Amino acid sequence: MIHIQQPSTVDEVLTSLKKLAATPLEAATAPPKAIYTLPDITAHEIDRIFASEWLCAGRADELPNPGDYMAFECGAQPLIIIRGADGALSARSNICRHRMMRLVEGRGNTRKFTCPYHAWTYNLEGQLVGAAYMDRTTCFNKSDIQLPAVRCEEYLGWIYVCLDPDVEPVAHMLADLTEKLLPYNMQDYVTIFTEDHVWDTNWKCLTENFMESYHLPVAHRSTVGAHYSVDENTFDERGPFASFTCQFFTKSDGAPVGRAHDDNTSLEGVWRHTSVMPTVFPSHMYVLAPDHHWYLSLQPNGPARTRIRYGAAIAPEKLAAEQDRDAYLAATKAFLDKVQVEDRHVVEGIFNGAGSPLGAPGPLSWLERGNHEFAQYLARQLCDH
Ligand code: FES
Repeated sequence: MIHIQQPSTVDEVLTSLKKLAATPLEAATAPPKAIYTLPDITAHEIDRIFASEWLCAGRADELPNPGDYMAFECGAQPLIIIRGADGALSARSNICRHRMMRLVEGRGNTRKFTCPYHAWTYNLEGQLVGAAYMDRTTCFNKSDIQLPAVRCEEYLGWIYVCLDPDVEPVAHMLADLTEKLLPYNMQDYVTIFTEDHVWDTNWKCLTENFMESYHLPVAHRSTVGAHYSVDENTFDERGPFASFTCQFFTKSDGAPVGRAHDDNTSLEGVWRHTSVMPTVFPSHMYVLAPDHHWYLSLQPNGPARTRIRYGAAIAPEKLAAEQDRDAYLAATKAFLDKVQVEDRHVVEGIFNGAGSPLGAPGPLSWLERGNHEFAQYLARQLCDH
């Protein structure tokens, strides 16, 4: 079997990644292909990245009322995100303190969480409040048992959770990004859908795909690439120690979406038809346009599968002006779904290519600046501890 020689062990891959991270963009390639396929690399990522970074669980307006909750997998830890009786968001372990059954699936509204196995019951603050037939157990004290809390913060309408108690707060970590986002009033956008999917690709293939616009005029020529010009693409250059990447693209005059509504009074000049595209490492990425945003939050499910939380929201003045709101929302959803289908085709194709004997990473374009910054982030997380 002929093949192109590539790093193939964990040590070889990490050595190669570290060298790549020290290379300027002009001389950089894509990462070694085994970074996408080796199970030990994924285990390393779960340990070094997903157990210690802020992950996006969705939008705060998905849980508007006390008692609203949704399940979210945070690395290896199932969580429940809860809107408490006091109106605050919190995140707690979704694992029963009896014999470790998962407490809830999906989302809903409740006054208490009852385990589906033996009906131990917890209140919205995670305190055990009910457990039948435990009166003969000498080591059982109901008041001592709670669902452990993990960090949960709200940032411009996003819900972020983190298993590491020592990581800096989200707003502090993203302070340089915040000033660019504030004029969009993203926290007021109205969520129109949130879905969970699993694709047959490595999570990094999808992250890298999202953060570069090189493919827009080609893979998305009939959707988001139709009114996009490479010449209008600019970058917020972050350097090798950034916690996010960000770029901007300005839509042409004929673009049907991505433009501020007349009632939008906060965006001015070219910003009225400019979108911001941040990727918050490791895996929260979104397009923030003057009239809508849509996002992905990714996590690995083994090297060959990726769990995706996918959603979108609309600027309130745009939504208020729509005469036929149902038709508008259906058309918006259909458009974004089409973009997803286009992306799925390429990111599953890339993953197949990474597993092929003659697959090998090639040089990056200047339009793939975010990809190189992502490689530098991965090297920092995986090689430098
Ligand atoms: Fe939850 Fe037994 S595992 S009540």
